[in-house]
Amino acid sequence: MSTDRDTVRSYDAVAAEYAAEAAAMPKWVAAEIDVFVTELGGSGRVLEIGSGGGRDALELEKRGISVRRTDISKGFVELLRESGFKADLLDPLTQDLADPQRPGTPYDGVWACACLIHVAREDFVTVLGRLAEATRTGGRLHVSVREGDGADVSTHGSAAAPRRYVETYWREPALRSAVTDAGWIVGEVHQCIGKPDDRWLTVRASRA
Ligand SMILES: C[S@@+](CC[C@H](N)C(=O)[O-])C[C@H]1O[C@@H](n2cnc3c(N)ncnc32)[C@H](O)[C@@H]1O
Repeated sequence: MSTDRDTVRSYDAVAAEYAAEAAAMPKWVAAEIDVFVTELGGSGRVLEIGSGGGRDALELEKRGISVRRTDISKGFVELLRESGFKADLLDPLTQDLADPQRPGTPYDGVWACACLIHVAREDFVTVLGRLAEATRTGGRLHVSVREGDGADVSTHGSAAAPRRYVETYWREPALRSAVTDAGWIVGEVHQCIGKPDDRWLTVRASRA
């Protein structure tokens, strides 16, 4: 499979609107940030995939973590840059993940909140494996995906400006296997509920 370009274009079209809607920190994300920062010992360099509007990067930085903001959507990258942040356009399936600020030095962790939902099931292990290769042994991973079965395409917008998002859903056993196969040691997996009917699985893992 490859990256779904319609999903990326859809985010490009609504980046500012999405960032405003997602600006408030959900409780379950705050709880994951607490654990992630504690496991990192309050310092370190983290690769963020799918930074979106930048909500989580700001919070991680407040806690002493250095964050490389990245997104596959040009809309989000431009938005972050307009706000004065350094941000890189990056597709974790195909592009070099090495840290331009620290050549030859792996990351201490990877933060991938609510973004690998858009990675096709058959590419999920590849993406997580590439993230593992870019991370030091013992480095931390947060990844969160939607809980459920199969995959879905949701359509929004108007006929003139259609938006289409592809999402893959996961159940805990398959998710644990995929993250393990990619080179991570899976710790806890939690079920979290955002808005009603908004069910997430969060994975806390370390680099094997
Ligand atoms: C639901 S938003 C989450 C944004 C942010 N992490 C948050 O929690 O608010 C999904 C994010 O995934 C990114 N994305 C879309 N397709 C992706 C892909 N194939 N691989 C990685 N990220 C992708 C989007 O650009 C967007 O930033």
